[in-house]
Amino acid sequence: MHSSLMNMVFMAVLGAVLFIWGPLSKVADQVYAAKQPETKGYKIEGVVEEGHGGAEEQQVVEVIPIETLLASATEAGGERIAKRCVACHTFDNGGSNRTGPNLWGIVGSPVAARDGFSYSSALKAVGAEGRVWDFKKLDAYILDPKGYIPGNTMNFAGLRKPEQRAALIKYMRAQADTPVPLPEPPAAEEAPAEESAG
Ligand code: HEC
Repeated sequence: MHSSLMNMVFMAVLGAVLFIWGPLSKVADQVYAAKQPETKGYKIEGVVEEGHGGAEEQQVVEVIPIETLLASATEAGGERIAKRCVACHTFDNGGSNRTGPNLWGIVGSPVAARDGFSYSSALKAVGAEGRVWDFKKLDAYILDPKGYIPGNTMNFAGLRKPEQRAALIKYMRAQADTPVPLPEPPAAEEAPAEESAG
């Protein structure tokens, strides 16, 4: 008797629980169902955003011309950044070639033309075309050495920040017997940098 009474009580309690749990779990389902698309949508958004972000970042990077950045850059700031180069380069007059060539007077100088340095054939080929290291070429090379001149052997990942490259190039320009004139920030004239390279 006792045990069957207990069973009845147990069943009643279980029934009550199920009675309440049924609708409750439906509510839970609805909440979950309502949340799910939200979660999915968010994830997709994140992926799309990443792609957009990358493209936008690149656009922003290219927007400010080197000529404009050079105007506000400081040689002192550039000297600090040049510490990333000194493992392989000297910047002083008569400095030795290391893994890379001495860079005294490099701004405005012909590509791959330092005495006593054995350049890669990739860099020599660029030099053979009569190219000169003007501000724009230096900027592109320091941003991405391997991408700009494939096959060249400068083992440097590149400086991503345009302001850092501008400061560095301003410093490099000053390390010369006669520093070449700074380019005019672009306004009326189209290509003042080309005129001065001669
Ligand atoms: C790991 C060594 C290494 C580092 C670090 C390095 N370079 Fe170089 N760099 C080289 C080598 C090697 C070459 C010659 C490449 C070739 O012959 O293909 C070179 C070439 C160059 C040239 C061309 C010189 C010419 O005569 O045409 C410039 C300009 C230059 N480097 C600037 C820099 C600057 C600025 C930095 C610092 C931001 C830097 N490099 C960091 C190794 C390095």
